[in-house]
Amino acid sequence: MKITFSDLVLPTSGAVIAFATEGADLMPSAIALDEAMGGAITKAIKSSTFKGKAGQSVQILAPTNVELSRVIVFGVGKEAEFDVIAAQKLGGTVTTRALATGEKDLTVLFDMDGLACDFATGAMLRDYRFDKYRTTETKDDKPVLKGLNIAARDHKDAKKQFDAAKKVVEGVFFTRDLVSEPANVLYPESFMKEVSALEKLGIEIDVLDEKEMKKLGMGALLGVAMGSARKPYMVVMRWNGGKKKDAPVAFVGKGVTFDTGGISIKPAAGMEDMKFDMGGAGVVSGLMKALAGRKAKCNVVGVIGLVENMPSSTAQRPGDVVTSMSGQTIEVINTDAEGRLVLCDALTYVQEKHDPRLIVDLATLTGAVIIALGHENAGLFSNNDDLSQQITTAGLSVDETVWRLPLGSGYDKQIKSDIADMKNVGGRAAGSITAAQFLKRFITKDRPWAHLDIAATAWSTSDKEVTPKGATGFGVRLLDRFVADNYEA
Ligand code: BES
Ligand code: MN
Ligand code: ZN
Repeated sequence: MKITFSDLVLPTSGAVIAFATEGADLMPSAIALDEAMGGAITKAIKSSTFKGKAGQSVQILAPTNVELSRVIVFGVGKEAEFDVIAAQKLGGTVTTRALATGEKDLTVLFDMDGLACDFATGAMLRDYRFDKYRTTETKDDKPVLKGLNIAARDHKDAKKQFDAAKKVVEGVFFTRDLVSEPANVLYPESFMKEVSALEKLGIEIDVLDEKEMKKLGMGALLGVAMGSARKPYMVVMRWNGGKKKDAPVAFVGKGVTFDTGGISIKPAAGMEDMKFDMGGAGVVSGLMKALAGRKAKCNVVGVIGLVENMPSSTAQRPGDVVTSMSGQTIEVINTDAEGRLVLCDALTYVQEKHDPRLIVDLATLTGAVIIALGHENAGLFSNNDDLSQQITTAGLSVDETVWRLPLGSGYDKQIKSDIADMKNVGGRAAGSITAAQFLKRFITKDRPWAHLDIAATAWSTSDKEVTPKGATGFGVRLLDRFVADNYEA
C-alpha cells in the first residue's frame, strides 16, 4: 500500500473516508462532502444506528451529485479523547474495513490536526500480511489496498513525520516476517543470514560461530544447541549513531528458532507455536533495522543467541551440568528451560565486549507469564526503577504495555542446586520470576538491566486494530520510543 498525503480538498473520484464525532456530529470536511452530496450522509446517518462512536461506521454506495464510488463515515468517539493511540487504531480500523470493500484506492478527509502521521502509521501496521506461502490465492482473492491518500491541512508536516515513522514500521515488519517464518526455513544459520543483510543500512554485523563460542566458553548456550543438526550462531549488531565515546545501549534477544523442549520434550498439541520462540531475537533485529532506518542518534548494540532446541542422541540430558561464559555452573534439570541458558551467555558476552550503559533483554521465556498477565501486557523485570519507568512509559505511549513483576533474593532458594551454582528451573511457583532471577545473576556491576518476557505478546491469535493476527512485532515500537525519548541527543 502506498501512503500519500495531500491538502484537505474534496476528491472528485474514488472511495472517500470521512469522520464524525460522538453524537454523529460530522467533522468539517464531512459536512462539506455531505453538502456536495445533497445531504446524503445526514440522511444515511438518520436511518442508521450510527452514533459516531469509535468503531462505528456508515456507508453510502455510489452517491449522486459526485463522481465517488463510495463514502464511508467513521465514528471517532469524543473529540477530546481522540489521541495518538486512537488515531493509530482508527487508521487500522479504516484499513481493515477498506480491505473488505474491495476498493483499491482511498482518500481520507482528515480534520484532526497533528494526528495524520499516527493515522498513517496505524494503517500501515494493519496492512501487513505474511502471504508468501499462499500459492493458490489469485490476485483477485488477495485483499489489497493500493493507495491511501490522507488529505490533511498539515499534510507537509505529516509527511515529514511519517518518513521517520515508516522506518519504524519497516522494523516491525522485519520482526513479523522473521517470527512468521516456519522453523524449516528460519533456523540459526538462515536467521543469521537474514540479519546480516542489515549491513547495507550501516549496521556493523559480527557473527560468532560454534567454534568462537566454544573458545569464549559459552557452555550454557552450546548445551542447548547440542541436540540439533543446525549449528548455533550469535549475531552482534552495532549501530553507531551517537558520540564515539558514549557507551552503547544494549538489547539482547532469545533466538530459539524452534523449541521442542529437547529431551524434556513438550506435548505435541500446540508445539507448532514454538516457531515463534525466536521472538526476542526477532524484536532485537527489527529494532536495529528501525533505529538504523531512521538514523537514531544513539549508540546501540543488539545481540541475539540463535539455537534450535531438539531431542536427539547428541542432545543435553536432564541433570547435565554446564559452565556458562561467566564461569557460573548450571545444573540443567529441565532441557525445556532453555531460553535462560541461551540468554545468560549472550548477557555475559555483551557486558564483557561492549560494557553497555544498560541492557534490555527480550524473550519468549515462560508460559507462566501468560498465566500471570494474559496477553495484554508483557512481563517486565528490572534491577532499576528509573529504567523500569522509562520502559513502562514508552510502552504506554505506543500501546505496547508492560507490567512490572518483582525480583527478590527470596526467590533464589528455588533455583539452588545440590551440585552446581544454580539449577535452570525453580518449580511451578512464580515461574516467570525465578527465570528472571536466574538471568539477574549474569548482570555485573549493578548495571541497569530490564528483562521483558514477551511469551504472551509476541503472537496474537486474533486481529487487533493495528496488528493482524499472527506475529505482532511487540517490542519494536516500544523500544524505539524508549531510545528516542531517553537516549538520543
Ligand atoms: N519457549 C518456552 C516458553 C513459552 C511457552 C513461550 C509458551 C511461548 C508460549 C520456554 O522455553 C519454556 O519451555 N519454558 C518452560 C519453562 C519450564 C520448563 C520451567 C515453561 O514455561 O513451561
Ligand atoms: Mn522451552
Ligand atoms: Zn523456549
